[in-house]
Amino acid sequence: MIITYNNKKTEDEILKKEEKYFLPNFSENTNKLFYGDNFYIMKALLHQYNMKGQVDLIYIDPPFSTNTVFRADVDRAQTISMGNNSDIAYYDTLIGDEFIEFIRERLVLAKELLSDIGSIYLHIDYKVGHYIKLIMDEIFGADNFRNDITRIKCNPKNFKRKAYGNIKDLILFYSKTKNNIWNECYTQYSQDDINKLYKKVKDGRNYTTVPLHAPGETLNGVTSQAFKGMLPPKGRHWRCSPEELEKLDQQGLIEWSSTGVPRRIIYADEKLGKKVQDIWDYKDPQYPEYPTEKNINLLKQIIKTSSNENSLVMDFFCGSGTTLLAAEQLSRRWIGIDNSEKAIEIALKRLDAEKNMYSLPRELVNCTDKKLKKVA
Ligand SMILES: C[S@@+](CC[C@H](N)C(=O)[O-])C[C@H]1O[C@@H](n2cnc3c(N)ncnc32)[C@H](O)[C@@H]1O
Repeated sequence: MIITYNNKKTEDEILKKEEKYFLPNFSENTNKLFYGDNFYIMKALLHQYNMKGQVDLIYIDPPFSTNTVFRADVDRAQTISMGNNSDIAYYDTLIGDEFIEFIRERLVLAKELLSDIGSIYLHIDYKVGHYIKLIMDEIFGADNFRNDITRIKCNPKNFKRKAYGNIKDLILFYSKTKNNIWNECYTQYSQDDINKLYKKVKDGRNYTTVPLHAPGETLNGVTSQAFKGMLPPKGRHWRCSPEELEKLDQQGLIEWSSTGVPRRIIYADEKLGKKVQDIWDYKDPQYPEYPTEKNINLLKQIIKTSSNENSLVMDFFCGSGTTLLAAEQLSRRWIGIDNSEKAIEIALKRLDAEKNMYSLPRELVNCTDKKLKKVA
């Protein structure tokens, strides 16, 4: 399926668009924060720093086409001011096909930067997210679509309009190939979960039981043989060999029903918790330093799961640097890009306050001809 709109370029035209920035010599041993337009910086990373296939994880939280000017007043550190005197953080004024093409051009370059074990997470809202999904299918391949994660962003509000309250946005997750980095994450069971899922109690420990057989008959394998003189039910096979079943029984890990049916005992305290599902509750900070600043624990979840220590993590709409901070804390290398002076100022302030002693030094690269007034 192809989405068409006015002025849609071919991928070749995007990749061949002329370069605008000339980066300083590459230093391998620094994390880098770039100030400038992410399109031209990504082009320069690809051609001047040969970074094709070097990035294991990209998270981006671009403007959402809200037709809004976002302001931030850092002097009133605890508030976001919408007053006229406060500093402009960024403009979110592209709409329609212009917005879609703005995102698409950057995603084409992002794909070039991703490694073969890499993943990209794109944070967006319900108004434009479905168009972006089609664009991502086109660029990364519908086969590499992994999840549409629902992110609960705030507590329920009393919306005035005639529609349901909106408390979520979405994160579209794609991998470059099927071989993406995946560090399974679990959330701890609550007492409520334990009471529901592990109702039985033995020696003070909550447990549940699961069948010892599974669908499908094995014709000649050991899992079709008798255990304590009992064959698996018709059309099914034992989950392991009768020898292993015997060992489980000796360890007290088999429960026998009154009619003599064996079931495997699973203790709650031996499980790592619940596999993380696709609805996440990571509300945004109540007192952000930057408008649209994201919850750092959301970023930690993504970085832990889809990158390894020492992976290179990139956020080319990095705003106040939440992704970079999370990457720093989790000992990943990082690259951040933003074209807002306010964003760079706040990102540096946050990074300097929380520098991980094991991480690389950071380098600020100003790709524009503007002087960053408030940055040393
Ligand atoms: C939604 S905010 C990101 C907020 C960020 N996730 C955080 O936690 O602070 C989007 C950012 O994209 C930046 N941006 C918009 N267009 C850009 C461009 N062409 N190049 C670089 N940055 C851009 C804006 O300045 C803004 O800081």
